[in-house]
Amino acid sequence: MSQDRKPETTTDQDDDPNRVVIFDTTLRDGEQSPGCSMNLEEKVSVAQVLEEMGVDVIEAGFPIASNGDFEAVNVIAKRIKNSTVAGLARATPKDIDRAGEALKPAVRPRIHTFISTSPLHMKFKLQMAPEAVHQAVIDSVGHARNLCDDVEWSPEDGTRTEHDFLCRCVESAIKAGARTINIPDTVGYTIPSEFAALIEMLRNRVPNIDRAVISVHCHNDLGLAVANSVAAVHAGARQVECTINGIGERAGNAAMEEIVMALRTRHDVLPYRTGIDTTVITRASRHLAAITGFSVQPNKAIVGANAFAHESGIHQDGMLKNAETYEIMTPESVGLVRSKLVMGKHSGRHAFSEKLKELGFELKQNELEDAFFRFKDLADHKKDIYDEDIIALVDDAVLRHNDHIKFLGLQVVCGSKGPQTAELELEIDGRHAKAKADGNGPVDATFAAIREIFPHQAELQLYQVHAVTGGTDAQAEVTVRLEENGKSVNGQGADHDTLVASARAYVNALNKLLVKREKTAPAAMTA
Ligand code: KIV
Ligand code: ZN
Repeated sequence: MSQDRKPETTTDQDDDPNRVVIFDTTLRDGEQSPGCSMNLEEKVSVAQVLEEMGVDVIEAGFPIASNGDFEAVNVIAKRIKNSTVAGLARATPKDIDRAGEALKPAVRPRIHTFISTSPLHMKFKLQMAPEAVHQAVIDSVGHARNLCDDVEWSPEDGTRTEHDFLCRCVESAIKAGARTINIPDTVGYTIPSEFAALIEMLRNRVPNIDRAVISVHCHNDLGLAVANSVAAVHAGARQVECTINGIGERAGNAAMEEIVMALRTRHDVLPYRTGIDTTVITRASRHLAAITGFSVQPNKAIVGANAFAHESGIHQDGMLKNAETYEIMTPESVGLVRSKLVMGKHSGRHAFSEKLKELGFELKQNELEDAFFRFKDLADHKKDIYDEDIIALVDDAVLRHNDHIKFLGLQVVCGSKGPQTAELELEIDGRHAKAKADGNGPVDATFAAIREIFPHQAELQLYQVHAVTGGTDAQAEVTVRLEENGKSVNGQGADHDTLVASARAYVNALNKLLVKREKTAPAAMTA
């Protein structure tokens, strides 16, 4: 265990009864959803932003799931000093030991163990009798407590669990040493009034409930994840599990930025406090979107591109007279800053690194050099460089260092007069490779050249281009989704040349596929 380990979690040090613990599961529940896989470097970079935001607990992964998950939890446990780092484990000694091992270097480790408790899950998924499940709760929490002081227990499918059985399991989990009891709405089935009543029921009926923090974990199948989470806080829950941009299984998890801003903006009726620095929200959202290729819908609350845009004449007029007429929170409060530094062709290294600081990036020297090189290239082709351009470029340039496959160059012949051909250069594990291919259009030719250099069976499911800013010289941001054996990944690439952006996005998706393959079959790493 780490030398500078502190015995208590962030939250234990805070006596305010209205302090709500923010438990972020972007790297676990978010990452395990289709298309959202991240490599180690990407996960660490997300964890660092979460720590900077003041997230209390970062659920870094599910260590038993794969060597990659184990390593991610382990590396994040080493790097993160201020947030608690949690690892997920099923109710078996093997899972729990693996989580305990991964969390060893953490200053504040937490083992989060769970088992299904609803009649449906116990009968069909676990094929276990309720008595056996109840015993597994006691054994698993007890086992976890032998490895770690901070243990969280979750009854999976909690909202469809019979109340008597739920109360019994919760009471036993607390007796066995769980400090946090998390009630998941695993299938996004509950509604706010019902969920609030469930939390109140637990507070009234479980005799030792005051020895644990009540947490909630809501999925968004009916679009109610945030409303359910807020209702639960009002009913006495003091930890909320959520993800950035609401990513997660199926319709996603409760969106952290929405919960935090709801509590902050409506403090008059929701007198609760989180430790989140809300000015980091926009950066965290953009960073995650760039990594996962899951762009945020424009009208998404808090972080959508239109969340603070006012286009109608009446609204604009009102805004000019008094911003509060149509704005219930300021763009600055979520870190949407109007830029002070305008960038262009003549901006030098110093101005560029100042701009990066303004946007909240802290790059190592070699990353800064790579990003500056890409910036200069862009500035040669584009007159005005906006913050969005720089964010897209840095995300694209910096997070690709450890990739197996790297994009080197592309030359395309296209138009109406002849066959479209692409000449492509890639680097695969340090080896230089080149191919020329024809296709049904320049994008098809480019992707055919990639397949020639790196043969694979994955199917292209989505190809999407969006302009990062306005104007014909705008950078293109391309998303490519590939599917292999029922598993899908999203890749992203940005460039002022749409075809280069397309090649980068495809290569990025392939790199993610290699990470995904490793999760199920380590031997498949070499395609
Ligand atoms: O949705 C769920 O039930 C979960 C548990 C593992 C907490 O993610
Ligand atoms: Zn979940």
